[in-house]
Amino acid sequence: MDEFRIIPYQPSHLDGVHEILFRTGYMGEDLIGRNAFNDRRLFGYIFCDYYLRFEPGNCFTALSSDMPERVLGYIIGAGDTRAQLYRFKKTYARKIVLRNSLITRLANPESFLMTKTIMAYFRQDLLTAETSILYRDYPAHLHINVLPGFQGKGIGAELMTAFEERMRMQSAPGIHLITASLNEKALRFYLKNNYRRYSEEEGDFWPGVTGVTSITFVKALKPA
Ligand SMILES: CC(C)(COP(=O)(O)OP(=O)(O)OC[C@H]1O[C@@H](n2cnc3c(N)ncnc32)[C@H](O)[C@@H]1OP(=O)(O)O)[C@@H](O)C(=O)NCCC(=O)NCCS
Repeated sequence: MDEFRIIPYQPSHLDGVHEILFRTGYMGEDLIGRNAFNDRRLFGYIFCDYYLRFEPGNCFTALSSDMPERVLGYIIGAGDTRAQLYRFKKTYARKIVLRNSLITRLANPESFLMTKTIMAYFRQDLLTAETSILYRDYPAHLHINVLPGFQGKGIGAELMTAFEERMRMQSAPGIHLITASLNEKALRFYLKNNYRRYSEEEGDFWPGVTGVTSITFVKALKPA
């Protein structure tokens, strides 16, 4: 059994978090060797840097007890998704579009196209009738990833406990999250941690990958 401890995120964990993000970035699987997205810095801008920079108190890492600098997993998120979306658009969205058009377009065309698809999603009005109800009842959201080779050892469950406790302290009534229908590890993990399926939507999860739906899970939190 590998020993680990969960602690609040610190800037020295950044490279480790980026590594895990990439190693789990293809709908839960490793991005290495796929030629699906090669601009690692941009990947970080899109999927995790906002939280680490603007909501570090909502971020936790699992560190190896044997190698205390080694990050084995992380959880990041926000207590108020409406506010997070607004701030993300004001901060990282601009950085992402700039890097994508000035650097990525030429250096990493595969990342350029993927980023355009993602940013088109963020340009829509995300506050629909459905999401307004979701964000009212389950205003917090999370993203969780554990390094390949260290999954299935209880790290994810402990990261969840730390994040849920933090959300309870902020009086969030509930948490939601989105995953891909083909990510069986994640589907089992969320059900096991008492999240329930809330909705399912068609949509392009990754360009060129068909038949994958996007599943929203929710969990109500008991007040602290
Ligand atoms: C999903 C994830 C965060 C769970 O964290 P974890 O540390 O592996 O999970 P835990 O060890 O705490 O919990 C184990 C449970 O999760 C599921 N699970 C985790 N890893 C699994 C694997 N490799 N195969 C099958 N099920 C797995 C199972 O339900 C398992 O319970 P069981 O052994 O009783 O069946 C982790 O597997 C992961 O990072 N996966 C890749 C990235 C990802 O998909 N992130 C979520 C994106 S929405």
